[in-house]
Amino acid sequence: MGPVRVESTAALYFATLFSGYTPMFTPRYARITERLSADGSDVWAVHDRALEMQRNGDDVILLSVGDPDFRTPEPIIDNAVSHLRVGRTHYSPSLGEIKLRRAVADLETRTSPYPCNADEVAIFPGATSAIYATLSCLLDPGDEIVVPEPMYVGYVPIFQGLDLKVRTVPLEVQNGFSLDVSAVKATISDKTRVLFINTPGNPTGAIIPAADIRELANYCRERNIWLVCDEVYSMFCYEGKHVSARASAESLENIVMIDGLSKSHAMSGWRIGWVVAPPTLILRLGSYAGATLFGSPQFIQDASAFALENDQQYVREMRDEYRKRRDYVLDKLGKVKNIRCSRPHAGMFVMCDVSATGLDGKAFAEQLLTEQAVSVIPGDAFGPSAANFVRLGLAQNHSVLKRACKRIRVFCAAI
Ligand SMILES: Cc1ncc(COP(=O)(O)O)c(C=O)c1O
Repeated sequence: MGPVRVESTAALYFATLFSGYTPMFTPRYARITERLSADGSDVWAVHDRALEMQRNGDDVILLSVGDPDFRTPEPIIDNAVSHLRVGRTHYSPSLGEIKLRRAVADLETRTSPYPCNADEVAIFPGATSAIYATLSCLLDPGDEIVVPEPMYVGYVPIFQGLDLKVRTVPLEVQNGFSLDVSAVKATISDKTRVLFINTPGNPTGAIIPAADIRELANYCRERNIWLVCDEVYSMFCYEGKHVSARASAESLENIVMIDGLSKSHAMSGWRIGWVVAPPTLILRLGSYAGATLFGSPQFIQDASAFALENDQQYVREMRDEYRKRRDYVLDKLGKVKNIRCSRPHAGMFVMCDVSATGLDGKAFAEQLLTEQAVSVIPGDAFGPSAANFVRLGLAQNHSVLKRACKRIRVFCAAI
């Protein structure tokens, strides 16, 4: 009998029965693959349905994305292209090109009282990868991490992948999602190895005051706990000032900062992020990056260094545009009686409490999509304390936001 082609489980069964064919290989996978693919509830269900509707020709408005709608500023693109043309297309050091590490270090030196050296910086392909690498180097499976919620949805697969024990602290939802320092301290146990915070916050748009970060940093240092702070929205503050963990802390021993260019420079697809941390951690991140990345593309790092070193006018322009969009949405939805939007001080999102409609965030988001073809993210995607909220993204231009607000008003009036 010739070779047996096996195309399905049923075919495999019959082939095995009648041909004497015995499968030689039973695939087995590492448990991390199960954890990574674990059902993260239906975080993206509304968004996915919106995309499906769009493919079917419906006029859907997507407020469920956090990808900047702006083009990457032209000078950065030109810079990357020119570096491509001169052959910057080779391997690069695992920790990143020294020019970019220095550019990040200079930025940190400008924004904190501590001078920063390139040996405190590691470059990764995006903040997501920087966070994964950092937590991989700080925590073993089963170790405890404390994190406030609502939190960025992207943290969940990272925590799951690394098999961490996650203890969450609810933010003060009715108080603009502020962080209650004493609640965080009460959640930290003698098993906690990392306190993970995010300021300015996604989805909340809240900025953690420098004094609170300082207090937590000291509290953690006294207990041998790392403070890891994700600051990817640092350049989009509208009121109040973002003060980095590095600038807030009294000592840098236990401070790790994550940032990147995805949001600030509309470079989400370029994949550039970084870690700023004590050199001992950076060395370990170097080994980790050597094993997993073997360097990020040279021409992208060249253009990223250029982006950080040169005039930040385009960053200010994007920030001002997001602020206008935020103000517009708050103004229009502020007139809708049965929803109440929190005022984000930073970032790209507006959180709306929809409980007065009689719906929770999930039902509201599902019905808003069905009835008015507007896609938002249900608050419970970010944590249980935001279950009565939906998150609206500001990564759409004014005319789209205008139509979206109108549809939301019509939807709310009909409830
Ligand atoms: C708080 C936060 N951290 C990290 C990321 C991921 O950033 P990156 O594109 O650099 O991986 C995002 C993206 O939305 C975010 O909102």
